[in-house]
Amino acid sequence: MSPELQFFMITDTHAAARPTVGVSNADIAIAVQNMRKIAPAALLIHGGDYTTMSEADVFAEQLQIYAAAGFPAYQCTLGNHDVRGRKNGQAERPDAQGWLNDWKIDWRPETDRLTDVRFVPWRETTRIFQDFQTEVNGGAQLYGQIAVDGFRILRLCTERPLKDQCWLSSEQLTWLDQSLAAIRQESTRPIVVISHQALTGTHSRSEEYGGFGEQDSQVKEILGRYSEIVFLSGHIHNGLGVAKVLQAPFGLLVDVPSYTTPDVGLPMAGICILATLTPTMLRIEPYFIGTEQSPDARLLKEYQTVLAI
Ligand SMILES: [Fe+2]
Repeated sequence: MSPELQFFMITDTHAAARPTVGVSNADIAIAVQNMRKIAPAALLIHGGDYTTMSEADVFAEQLQIYAAAGFPAYQCTLGNHDVRGRKNGQAERPDAQGWLNDWKIDWRPETDRLTDVRFVPWRETTRIFQDFQTEVNGGAQLYGQIAVDGFRILRLCTERPLKDQCWLSSEQLTWLDQSLAAIRQESTRPIVVISHQALTGTHSRSEEYGGFGEQDSQVKEILGRYSEIVFLSGHIHNGLGVAKVLQAPFGLLVDVPSYTTPDVGLPMAGICILATLTPTMLRIEPYFIGTEQSPDARLLKEYQTVLAI
């Protein structure tokens, strides 16, 4: 029997506390129940943007919904919406320091400090995230890896509360390189890497809002030293039909549709993917996993794909 890893990936759930339109954690609870029924042995990956306005209570409640559902394992990262806070004001142009009211457009290491009063949402959500990682995965770092049935799943994670892009420290880049090298010493199996932002210039619309961020080329250079990597991302909200799996020199790039709002492609909310990974192939089965309004899940067979690795 060939070794196999099965996982759901849900991303960009963008729950709000009291939505007039859009998603709340009540919708997520339905989706989670459906995922557990569809494939009870599959673990769960969340690609970030749990929230839209970095609301700490919505974020914490949603994490607990996933944790309480009994998935065999859980890996997740933070999205820009989870950390950037809420813009209070009218400014439409960044000032000379890169601020758009309470949003930071870029990170300037010489002057920007995480202790800035405007980064309260960052401090709250990262504390909740790190407590959650400690509880379920045994380590409080923002970035990290888990091992499931001989497969490794690494999460990249932003270390700065930027408006749209991620920002990875040199420590995180070194960790990525050293982790991939160590895994490759002991295993030839595909390695899963998750990131909220897609790498720039890969998927359709991956360059929107400035793309991945400042460390884009460094991440590509590190991944390029390895092979058979499955790199999964969300953030750009391509719906089914536009969200694709692409070949890269180091493996496969998977664009996962937003659960909440596809901006292009199939105009259907409530989407996640079920992935089956073996040493030689990746199968992606998109599902409608339900909302409060429409709780019955179904496989969207016409969007299934199988790729060789
Ligand atoms: Fe995002």
